[in-house]
Amino acid sequence: MASQARNPRFQKGQTEASKRFTASIGFDWRLLPYDIQGSKAHLAMLVRQGILSGEEGLLIESGLDQVLEAWKQGTLEPRLDWEDVHMNVEGHLYQIIGAVAGKLHTARSRNDQVALDIHLYMRDVGASLQHDLLALGGALIGRAESDGDVIIPGYTHLQAAQPVLLAHHWMAYEAMLERDLGRLDDWLGRLDASPLGAGALAGTPYPTDPEYTAELLGFHTVYRNSLDAVSDRDFLLEFLALTAILATHLSRLGEELILWSSQEFGYIHMDDAYATGSSMMPQKKNPDVAELMRGKSGRLTGNLMALLTVMKGLPLAYHSDMQEDKEAVFDTVDTLSALLPVARGMLETLVIDRERISHRLGRDYTGATDIADLLVKRGMPFREAYHHVGLVVGKLEGSGRSFAEISDEELKSHLPGVSRGEIETLSPPYLVEARRQSLGTAPDSVKRQIALAKQRLAAIAHR
Ligand code: ARG
Repeated sequence: MASQARNPRFQKGQTEASKRFTASIGFDWRLLPYDIQGSKAHLAMLVRQGILSGEEGLLIESGLDQVLEAWKQGTLEPRLDWEDVHMNVEGHLYQIIGAVAGKLHTARSRNDQVALDIHLYMRDVGASLQHDLLALGGALIGRAESDGDVIIPGYTHLQAAQPVLLAHHWMAYEAMLERDLGRLDDWLGRLDASPLGAGALAGTPYPTDPEYTAELLGFHTVYRNSLDAVSDRDFLLEFLALTAILATHLSRLGEELILWSSQEFGYIHMDDAYATGSSMMPQKKNPDVAELMRGKSGRLTGNLMALLTVMKGLPLAYHSDMQEDKEAVFDTVDTLSALLPVARGMLETLVIDRERISHRLGRDYTGATDIADLLVKRGMPFREAYHHVGLVVGKLEGSGRSFAEISDEELKSHLPGVSRGEIETLSPPYLVEARRQSLGTAPDSVKRQIALAKQRLAAIAHR
């Protein structure tokens, strides 16, 4: 009798449509190496505990190796009849080694098996995501170093506010990525528990040793409660949440690069390798990579919402609803592994239009707060000084003049005691230099930020 023959409690088979609807083999095939890894640990434990003989263990292990090899070669057929990756492994194993294949599933359920497989898979995902994030963080630091002396207008409400170093701007994004890395690390800590041994929901009556399989698989601990072990998908929700936050960060960076590369700003030029053309308008160079960097956040947030909604209100323990976890998670994984390296390349190759930025800098009133501060230094309450400078800006703006073009009359009546020379010292480099707090935009402060960020990223990379 074939190992995958239908359970005789059923009087007939599923319809084709019902099979297609309930199967997960269309998307869980990528878990196969993890399924084999978990099965080998389970098998070693069964032999060690005397539940299977050493001979059976060797036979099954060599069969599992052959299944994995065929999968790697691309010669293993996923079979819809076998429903999912777990039953496919068992079915193929049976075809290679015969009935003894049926002993592998002793003291195990697909419920703890699938939970284990995804834990193992996510551990690898975490490592590669960390690698990609470190590289992107490195690219931001690289930009901060090479653009170290460029000053841009800083914006609030997307209105020119106060000048900042472009490096400071890049390092703000680097700080966001470091928090993403921190969340990733926290998550990896909680992921580090093995659900194997929970069986279907209650544990198993065999003398199994879940601590041993956990150790073999490199987990620090075993879930404390079998019901929780098979019901838990927090580790996927957390992953989808932390990646949705990451994608939100990337969308903000993408948006700024889109704005900055527009004709209206013209601060940056995208390398041709990261831009595309229009099918109709020959002059167009579109920032598609940055746009999709912005757009993918919708998808990643959607994946989080999808799984939260699937899990909401589910009673303990396993339900087929939970099979819906995979496509959302795989989609987020695939999206990020395509996006992060491209985002990095785009950042590394974009060219800063220093001339255009400095031309733009001279034409705003971003020194206004510091002019008010000159009055404050003379004892005027800040709110009053603010009012005076507001009046001045109104007049200057109305006649298209800069602060340097203020009349003697205006100077005397609105900025009492302030000299023209003082106003002229308030150049963008001076204003930037003046903000010397550890978190401020002064060049020394930003250099310190960069040095500390490099240390922290190196520490994460070497952990
Ligand atoms: N294919 C299932 C999934 O992806 C595996 C677990 C199935 N367990 C069960 N009792 N039907 O979640």
